[in-house]
Amino acid sequence: MQQLHSPWRHLFPGIQHLSQAGQVWLDSAATAQKPQVMLDALLQHYQQGVANVHRAQHQPGERATIAFEQARQQAAHWLNAPSSDCILFTKGATEGINLLSHALAGQLKAGDEILLSGYEHHANLLPWQHLVQRQQLQLKILPVDNHGTIEIAHAADYFNSRTRLLAISPLSNVLGQLHYLVC
Ligand SMILES: Cc1ncc(COP(=O)(O)O)c(C=O)c1O
Repeated sequence: MQQLHSPWRHLFPGIQHLSQAGQVWLDSAATAQKPQVMLDALLQHYQQGVANVHRAQHQPGERATIAFEQARQQAAHWLNAPSSDCILFTKGATEGINLLSHALAGQLKAGDEILLSGYEHHANLLPWQHLVQRQQLQLKILPVDNHGTIEIAHAADYFNSRTRLLAISPLSNVLGQLHYLVC
């Protein structure tokens, strides 16, 4: 069988180190290994005088702010976002989805419905469950078949005029199923 290796694997010293010890890293959703270029940038950030972004007028503060904003612009470009203002950095998925669920709260009213899939990680379940409880919304779970695939034929039955939000992961790290959604 043909071996498919990521062309980026060699850029991650952690992956190489683990590989020499016979280990394969499969837990990137929890903790991603970092590429050398990121490790270098972090080291440089501390070595050249560390400072907060958007706080100070001294040189390291200005340097950090410029680097931070450039990263935001690059992320926006990469994600096809209309503006870098759309990009928020959070320290993880749980924090990000909690932030989103609180931000959307004002736009939802009792009886509105939120759709998730049956294979979501807690990070994409608990924030919505809390929102549903706080605002008397309805949570609906799209069924998953024995192969871990969303049952598309039945999924349409779960959408109606009160559906406000669909929050599903395209790739489950529990089941390994990749879902392409064509809207
Ligand atoms: C699939 C998946 N999603 C989300 C999370 C939570 O990520 P975070 O620690 O960034 O909140 C994890 C953590 O293990 C995960 O495995």
